[in-house]
Amino acid sequence: MTSLTPSRSDHTRYLCGLAPVIPVLVIPDAAVAADLGRTLIGAGLPVLEVTLRSDAALDAIRAMAALPGGHVGAGTVLSADDARRAKDHGATFAVSPGLTDAIAAACEDLDLPLLPGVATATEAMAARDMGFDMLKLFPAEAVGGRALLKALAGPLPQLSFCPTGGITTATAPDYLALANVTCVGGSWIAPEADQRARDWDAIGGRARAAASLQGQVSP
Ligand code: 3PG
Repeated sequence: MTSLTPSRSDHTRYLCGLAPVIPVLVIPDAAVAADLGRTLIGAGLPVLEVTLRSDAALDAIRAMAALPGGHVGAGTVLSADDARRAKDHGATFAVSPGLTDAIAAACEDLDLPLLPGVATATEAMAARDMGFDMLKLFPAEAVGGRALLKALAGPLPQLSFCPTGGITTATAPDYLALANVTCVGGSWIAPEADQRARDWDAIGGRARAAASLQGQVSP
């Protein structure tokens, strides 16, 4: 069975296929954004989600959007206004913890690809009916993690996921081993403390390790 409407997820599906991990970034100071972005992109993580959870987020998006080789999106998009401001500052995609008509319509109007969040089969079906087939599962660990994703693959095989929320470098390979998981998201790569300390070696090391992650079921 095919999707009821044309896919609105073509670009986000492409982005999710570029690397096994999308770093979820809470950036405390826009002054670190360019170096942070260069570190992550250089380590093999070209798709960056800057959450709209800090005052510096929009300026950080603008700084990162100018970097070559990266794809910078806004995360924690909760409203049409968030989507508009993100696009104005150079975001090329949006990520939301959920999916509302207002956000979907705004992203459509703005031509801003949206990776919407779902947490249940009903929400996944609603997203599919709206034309989204590349979804964020959020908060992944809290709502059932790998067991939920395996269960959803039966009735909803056309949907792919970027699980995010509570995933670590240790658990990511188990997620990546699932056929309906394209990549995972996580904040472990660039914690705020390392950003403030400008510890690019530590962040780069975690980013390189994340970029080389592959699907592997733990024993
Ligand atoms: C978020 O939006 O905060 C993401 O879900 C990140 O979750 P994490 O901090 O558990 O990786």
